[in-house]
Amino acid sequence: MVQNAILRGHSSRLGTEQGLSAHEDRDRAAGGDGEPTSRHLQQVTVEFEYPVYFTRDAFAPANPCLREAIATREPWRRHRLFAVIDRNVALASPWLVGAIHAYVERHHDALELVAEPLVLEGGEAAKNDTAVATRLHTRWNELGMDRQSVIVIVGGGALLDLAGYAAAVAHRGLRVVRLPTSVLAQADSGVGVKCGVNLFGKKNFVGTFAPPFGVVNDGRFLETLAARDVVAGMAEAVKVALIRDGDFFAWLVAHADELAACALGPLGELIQRCAALHLRHIATSGDPFELGSARPLDFGHWAAHKLEAMTRHRLRHGEAVAIGLAIDATYAERSGLCDAATAASVRALLGRLGLPLWDEALAQTAGGRRVVLDGLAEFREHLGGELTITLLRRIGEGVEVHEIRESLMEDAIARLVPARQ
Ligand SMILES: NC(=O)c1ccc[n+]([C@@H]2O[C@H](COP(=O)([O-])OP(=O)(O)OC[C@H]3O[C@@H](n4cnc5c(N)ncnc54)[C@H](O)[C@@H]3O)[C@@H](O)[C@H]2O)c1
Ligand SMILES: [Zn+2]
Repeated sequence: MVQNAILRGHSSRLGTEQGLSAHEDRDRAAGGDGEPTSRHLQQVTVEFEYPVYFTRDAFAPANPCLREAIATREPWRRHRLFAVIDRNVALASPWLVGAIHAYVERHHDALELVAEPLVLEGGEAAKNDTAVATRLHTRWNELGMDRQSVIVIVGGGALLDLAGYAAAVAHRGLRVVRLPTSVLAQADSGVGVKCGVNLFGKKNFVGTFAPPFGVVNDGRFLETLAARDVVAGMAEAVKVALIRDGDFFAWLVAHADELAACALGPLGELIQRCAALHLRHIATSGDPFELGSARPLDFGHWAAHKLEAMTRHRLRHGEAVAIGLAIDATYAERSGLCDAATAASVRALLGRLGLPLWDEALAQTAGGRRVVLDGLAEFREHLGGELTITLLRRIGEGVEVHEIRESLMEDAIARLVPARQ
């Protein structure tokens, strides 16, 4: 199955403030040199299009997906490739490097591997080490990679974010073909348009928006993913179902036991449905590069990002998102936005999938106030502008609020404390 995410020009806002600013206009007028003020409104419309494949055994020589993702636009030439692989994926799939060589060999009319694939540490530790991007740049400089060269990234969401960021800023953007290898990355991050690394203890402080050249989701990789990571990745599916698709939420409830047992059939369906919702949001929301303050797909994320930092990434991103969803669903109930049954069904599904609703970091206080609440201000800072938090109106429908009542949020978090504590 191939899906094309088409991002249509949303660049008018980029253009509106170009030319002379109002401030400069005033200065000129005050200068009194008699010259008329001029203002040019620059407008640029850009269209992005990238294929997203769902396949199995992407590196089997006869599988056309990777070749198509790289070469379809310019079938008349050979494409220079450099592959970056998540160390845990390379360890779990010792055949992988050989398979990449064999694939490129089979398609040598279209593809050329410029060097041995580079195996890099995956996981959040990779995103915390900004030196890795420089290491990639050094290697790409040595190899003479240019803006038409292709970086093939095989790994979890963290490595995709890190290597994608390095590629996005090298020569102002190398081509990136992603092969996401985790549930979260195949269903969510890998099909999207963002990349970045962590800095100053803040998630994604350095990063950019960079649509990929193509995405190839290979179901085979999921077979080696640890159960903990399979389950963690499902949190993003619960998130998007809650705000966008009540039928998908009902499907998740109906298949919760199989999903909790990591059954590959239902997992594949979860990934495709979640990715489709994500792609639709990017293509149709009107704000793919998040210029505004609203970010519906970050439902549950203000607390999640803070908890990841507070636990120094002991919690996986997906686990932190699950806790964030439980908090925000409970807050929505406490503030009368949704009914008690809705919030209860969110907590019940998360629990049945094996996701956490609580972490001891939530108990941390400073000056009598829960430290996690600082996540609200940090979230606002990251988005810019007015605080905008997505909450739940009913299953399948989110609602944006611009104010959080801290006493109610405190109450919501307190209600999640496990009985034995
Ligand atoms: N860019 C975005 O839009 C976006 C969206 C959501 C999340 N994210 C980011 O994605 C990251 C989380 O991604 P994740 O859940 O994939 O976690 P991850 O990348 O940390 O991977 C989890 C662990 O599984 C290993 N792994 C990955 N695939 C494997 C496989 N097939 N076999 C064996 N081991 C494998 C990794 O090495 C890692 O140790 C976070 O940094 C989060 O902030 C980004
Ligand atoms: Zn997320």
